[in-house]
Amino acid sequence: MKGYPRVRPRRLRLNKNIRDTTAETDLTPNNLILPVFVKENITTPEKIPSMPEILRYPVNDLLVKFIEENYEKGIRSVILFGIPAFKDNFATSAFSKDGVIQKALRLLRDTFGEKILLIADECTDEYTSHGHCGIVNYRGDKYYIDNDESLKVHAKIALSQAEAGADVIAPSSMMDGVVGAIREELDKNGYSDTLIMSYSVKYASVFYSPFREAANSAPAFGDRRSYQMDPRNSFEALKEVSLDVEEGADILMVKPAHTYLDVIRLVKQNFPQYPLAAYHVSGEYSMIKAAVQSGWLDERRTVLEITFSIRRAGANMILTYYAPKIAEWISEGV
Ligand code: PBG
Repeated sequence: MKGYPRVRPRRLRLNKNIRDTTAETDLTPNNLILPVFVKENITTPEKIPSMPEILRYPVNDLLVKFIEENYEKGIRSVILFGIPAFKDNFATSAFSKDGVIQKALRLLRDTFGEKILLIADECTDEYTSHGHCGIVNYRGDKYYIDNDESLKVHAKIALSQAEAGADVIAPSSMMDGVVGAIREELDKNGYSDTLIMSYSVKYASVFYSPFREAANSAPAFGDRRSYQMDPRNSFEALKEVSLDVEEGADILMVKPAHTYLDVIRLVKQNFPQYPLAAYHVSGEYSMIKAAVQSGWLDERRTVLEITFSIRRAGANMILTYYAPKIAEWISEGV
């Protein structure tokens, strides 16, 4: 049996240098997008019980300092979520010139200029008393989410975010036609260079629960299953993506990430010419944190393995609450 086996896959695993030079997937801070909660009417950062180590920031120098620290770690992209002091049925504070997100965008744009890519989450749920991602209407005593009325509001929010300095608008409502409605409104008003990163494939997921506590945005009645995708479906994702592409989306997104790796792969294979983002969401974050806090999993190895698996599935960029930590770990060598 001398000289057998001739093919030995283990040769490529012999030492770290061989493994590193032949690795199929890499991870750099350029792949990371940092989600940031900004809250109106607070002066110091607030803890979020369901998301250990994540804070809600006031729109002041403490927010600037946090972004600066992340910039030093190599993170160049942030996505902002606003938590307003005032809610109504029409998400008025989402498109007010002095809304929390508009103030945060202006502050960060003035401070950082082009150094940071500013992405604005575009939705109504944090800004409405009912907590839905669109306008609620009634047929008799039965409520429904009025798609076409919602489009007008989403277009208005997007425009006010672009005016406040957002580079990228990220519609997360899953309303039909929302990307086209926003594209048209932006173009009509001279913002044809503002990008759209669409939450094209967003599932009705339990893994958003900690975020809803963080952003105080849980629906007051009903749920989101009449607009977010059914977790049993994958091929339907291609229909959602095709529509967003036709309507002018620049960047696509699948959300959640770790539980939907098959969908990430499917979208990347069918639309390889579009940059694809994946959102490692709040519940995915908190699950890891809980296991780490119990001493059951090693944080660094767990997060890196999961993040690599999202990259391996086909995501170009990853929205993750772990971005600051991942950037640190990368600089120490993964
Ligand atoms: C809607 C929005 C949500 C998330 C991002 N954008 C909440 C939802 O759809 O209920 C969830 C993000 C996360 O869980 O980390 N504005």
